[in-house]
Amino acid sequence: MTTNSLRSRYEELKAQINFHNYRYHVLDAPVISDAEFDRLLNELKRIEAEHPDWVTPDSPTQRAGAKPADRFEKVRHPAPILSLANAFGAEDARAWFERIRKIDDRVERAKFVVEPKIDGLSVVLHYRDGIFVQGATRGDGEVGEDITNNLRTVKAIPLKIPVNSEEFSVISKQLSVGSVPKTLVVRGEAFIPIKEFEELNRKLEEAGEKTYLNPRNTAAGSLRQLDPALTASRPITLLVYQIVHAEGGTVPTSQWEILQYLKSLGFPVTDVARRFDTLDEAIAYAETWDRRRDELPYEADGMVIKIDDLRLAAELGFVGKDPRGAIAFKFPAREVTTILKEIGVAVGRTGVLTPYAVLEPVEIGGVIVERATLHNFDYIAEKDIRVGDRVLVKRAGEVIPYVIGPVVEARTGKEKPYKPPQTCPACGQPVEHFEGEVAWYCVNAACPAQLIRNVEHFVSRGAMDIVGMGIKIVEKLIEAGKVKDVADLYTLTREDILEAVTKKDRKTEKQPPGKIADNLLASIEASKSRPLARLIAALGIRGVGEVSAADLASHFEDLDALSQASAEDLQQIEGIGPNIAEGIVDWFSRPANQKVLKKLKAAGVWARGGKSKEEGQKSDALAGLTFVITGTLPTWSRDEAKAFIESHGGKVTDSVSKKTSYLVLGENPGSKFEKAKALGVKIIGEEELRKLAGD
Ligand code: IVH
Repeated sequence: MTTNSLRSRYEELKAQINFHNYRYHVLDAPVISDAEFDRLLNELKRIEAEHPDWVTPDSPTQRAGAKPADRFEKVRHPAPILSLANAFGAEDARAWFERIRKIDDRVERAKFVVEPKIDGLSVVLHYRDGIFVQGATRGDGEVGEDITNNLRTVKAIPLKIPVNSEEFSVISKQLSVGSVPKTLVVRGEAFIPIKEFEELNRKLEEAGEKTYLNPRNTAAGSLRQLDPALTASRPITLLVYQIVHAEGGTVPTSQWEILQYLKSLGFPVTDVARRFDTLDEAIAYAETWDRRRDELPYEADGMVIKIDDLRLAAELGFVGKDPRGAIAFKFPAREVTTILKEIGVAVGRTGVLTPYAVLEPVEIGGVIVERATLHNFDYIAEKDIRVGDRVLVKRAGEVIPYVIGPVVEARTGKEKPYKPPQTCPACGQPVEHFEGEVAWYCVNAACPAQLIRNVEHFVSRGAMDIVGMGIKIVEKLIEAGKVKDVADLYTLTREDILEAVTKKDRKTEKQPPGKIADNLLASIEASKSRPLARLIAALGIRGVGEVSAADLASHFEDLDALSQASAEDLQQIEGIGPNIAEGIVDWFSRPANQKVLKKLKAAGVWARGGKSKEEGQKSDALAGLTFVITGTLPTWSRDEAKAFIESHGGKVTDSVSKKTSYLVLGENPGSKFEKAKALGVKIIGEEELRKLAGD
């Protein structure tokens, strides 16, 4: 390739990559695969390695790679970066309108644009001749910090915008604004979308690292630290909504057109914005988003109502740093602070102790909140939450209110560090902690708090499915001493049930108590025939859900057989890891649980599982062993070998792991052979397999 054609290929690549970047990060509608994108980028990198002097600031390779800075330079903004006055509700918004109408009666005929008010970090982006040359924080509104290298890593920020009308899309031609100004300074809000934030925290938690408090602080923190590589690793994006300054060209004079214009230049712009002819309509629209705010992918603390005519808006002037031409229509707060009065502890079905906050009652988004979860004891320690602290509490959407963390600045010195309880708050027995888990457990099977949860779980739909056995009846039966463990459900008499039912608020019941009792007795009886998988799941063994219960049921004949299995036996079963195995062994080792088993058996609640000798089962010689087959065997097909192993009680899986007992090797083996050797798995042939099975 000649230098000339290589040069034009280079320009073409830059344009293509920037375009695909825009499709992906701004429009969220990619047109090529990640692999194709990487190919283009690699080609570009190769050319740049050969011709470093060609590299321009709008090259996609310039997004990452800048070295950490020592400090940020100061940047004077070309025009003040203003703030907004708040309106809390429709009345406030109308009062704002009245105030500005008195200043200028043209306001009466004004249109209004309503946009989401994103809770992020205000940033100012400078473009010269269409190239992104500088990015700054808002700072005090006059002077901000130069965070260009950090902002370059934000893929939603275009490194280049079109400079002449040919490069425009159809929309901006309709706006007839001529060519793009030589200098264009825009303002937007940088943020981390909620889903990405949760994903980030999940990853940090898995890696055992500290999690972040909220998306806003994380976005702000990531942009205002000195290492661009760290910014690049955070899922920051932005939406642009204002032209702060333009020189050497004209721009639209209405807010609505500004949004379309910015969009046509390749900037990410909200699609939630609307324009209205009257303030009432604007308010009504802002209110709909108050109700729908969970549909927004980012955190918004309100909507902004702006006078559409930007010349009129500018003429209205400002009060302090707040322009008169716009107002923040705030949503009710979802994060508020209040006093943490006490830390309570709830006992769950499996005995997990969950701490919760008892709060000075506080209103969050129209609901009075008095309790909030504290997740677990590690969380309290990590966030250093103390009793008496002023804490930040959040309630959003369907999520249970939770304590985000303490407001450390508000401490008086009287706050008390919290110590997790050593005994169960419900039964007083010592609590236990299992290696590798954050939870603390009450392991006393007779703990009354657990008993309620246990019975509730036992009778639930995925378990024994005892229809009609609601929580109220369960509580009454336990209170009356009729149910001391789940097996007692099977010896309940009609009278026992009648008493529990009649003690309930009878007005809410449509059926007569006698009928309820008969139905309940019938469903208790019917539950006796549930399959073993359900029965195992119903026991509420730590870590054993419906899926592992089904795996266990296909390996054991009954609960006695399962009860005798060692942790090692159990781990041979696919899907059963060391933690679950230990949970099972632990559950069966407890005398109280053995007593329950005996009672269940006596009551006829004794399902049989898959390991009962099936037809075609020849022996148990390979029981507990796991095999992987690779290559072509001398006489058997893969399926025949599999059937042989299974008929002797063994198991065949597809991939080699440390749990594999033997690799059965044939001719022309695949990579499984290498893996087995590397893991030290025993390797045998067809002949040895027969011998092993005693065939
Ligand atoms: S307009 C004259 N529009 O809210 C322009 N601000 O409390 C004044 N914000 O500092 C700002 N989304 O960081 C405007 N669509 C939006 C916004 C928005 C978020 C932030 C901005 C500002 C703060 C005002």
